[in-house]
Amino acid sequence: MSRDFADRLSAIAPSATLAMAAKAAKLRSEGHKVYPFSVGEPDFDTPAHIRDAAKAALDRGATRYTPVTGTPELKAAICTSTEKYRGHKVEPAQIVVSSGAKHALFNLALALYQPGDEVLIPSPFWVSYPEQVRMVGATPVIVPTREQDGFRLRPEVLQDALSPRTKAIILCTPSNPTGAAYSKKDLLPLLEVLRKTDVYIIVDEIYADLVYDGFVHASLPSFASEFRDRTIIVDGVSKTFAMTGWRIGWTITSNSLAKAIDIVQSQSTTNAAAISQAAAVAALNGPRAELEVMRRHFSERRVVMVEGLRSLPGVSCRMPEGAFYAFPDVRGLFGKKHRGVELVTDHDVANWLLDEVHVASVAGEPFGAPGYLRFSYACAECDIREALDNMRNAIARLD
Ligand SMILES: Cc1ncc(COP(=O)(O)O)c(C=O)c1O
Repeated sequence: MSRDFADRLSAIAPSATLAMAAKAAKLRSEGHKVYPFSVGEPDFDTPAHIRDAAKAALDRGATRYTPVTGTPELKAAICTSTEKYRGHKVEPAQIVVSSGAKHALFNLALALYQPGDEVLIPSPFWVSYPEQVRMVGATPVIVPTREQDGFRLRPEVLQDALSPRTKAIILCTPSNPTGAAYSKKDLLPLLEVLRKTDVYIIVDEIYADLVYDGFVHASLPSFASEFRDRTIIVDGVSKTFAMTGWRIGWTITSNSLAKAIDIVQSQSTTNAAAISQAAAVAALNGPRAELEVMRRHFSERRVVMVEGLRSLPGVSCRMPEGAFYAFPDVRGLFGKKHRGVELVTDHDVANWLLDEVHVASVAGEPFGAPGYLRFSYACAECDIREALDNMRNAIARLD
C-alpha cells in the first residue's frame, strides 16, 4: 500500500468473493466453462413489470435529485411491505433509502460507531461486516457459532462477548454465508441477554424472503417491541427481486438514528438513483408470483446442491433454512494430495476445484470459518449436477 494512502486502508481486507470471481472470469475469458458458485446474486432477470416501471419513470422525468432519505412513494411502499411481510408497522421518518444494503450498513457504521466501540459479529459472517467496522476505527469482535448449533449464536457465548464497550451486534438471518436462520424461538434467549444492556441490535434481513421448507422468518420488531428504539433493520430489493444492479437498500430504525444517517448520506451520495427508486416501488407494490417461482427454483437447487455435496467423500453439509448458499465442511479433504501437492486449507481446496474442474466457490476462512467452502446455488440446476459429477471425479483422482 502506498504511504500516501490513508492508514485505515492497511486494516481492511479486499473482498474475497470478488477475488475468486476475478480468477473465474479469467478462466472464462480463456474459453473454459466455469461453474459459477462464487457469486452472491440471483441468476434471474429482474421481473418485466419492474423494468417497465423504470422505463415509464424515466419518461415521466425521474431524472432529478430526490429527497436524501428516499421518495415518499418508495418510503410508503416500504412501510406497506414491512407491515405485510415482516409483521411490524413503521413510519416514513424511520426509513433511510440508500444505494444498496451494503451502503445502508456503511452509513450506519459512520453514524453509529467510533474508535473504542466494539461491534459483535457472529461467525461465520458476511465479509463486509468486520471491514466496515474497522474502516470507521471501531473494533469488530468475532463471536463464534458452531455447526452443531445450526450456526446460531448461543446466549452464553453472547453473554461472555459483551463488554462495557459493546456498541452493537450484527445478526444476519438468513445468513450469508451459511444460509442458517433464526426463528423467533432462537432469538428470544439472545434478547434475554441483551435486555440487560443498551446494545444496538442490527438485523440484516436482505435474504428474509428466501426461506424454505416452511421456515418462518421472524422480524425482531414484530415481537420485541421493547427493543424498538435500538433495533435497526437492514433490508433491500437486491436478492428477493433479482435487482442487485439497481442498488436499492434501506435501514429502518428510530427517528433519531434515521436523522443521523440522513446527515451522513446527505454529505456523501445524496439520494439513491431516482429511476431505481421508482423500480423498487413497482417491486414492493407489484405482484409476487414471479418471486415465488424464483424462490421455488432456489429451494429445489438447494436440495440438489446440498445432497450432492453430502454424497462427496470427505465433505459434509448442513441443510440451510434460507438464502442461496450451501456451506460444506471440507476438512475431510485435508491431507489428500493433488499431483503430489497436499491440500492443507480451505483456500487450497477452493483453488484446486477451480483449477482442476473449473468449479468456482469461495474459501470459508474470509467468512471466519476456515475448513468450509461457500457455494452459491443461484445458478442453473444442470450446472449444479454437472459440477458435482466433476467434483466427485476430481476427488477420486486425489492421492
Ligand atoms: C448479508 C448481506 N447483506 C447485504 C448485502 C448487500 O446487498 P446490496 O446488494 O443491496 O448492497 C449482501 C450482498 O451480498 C449480503 O449478502
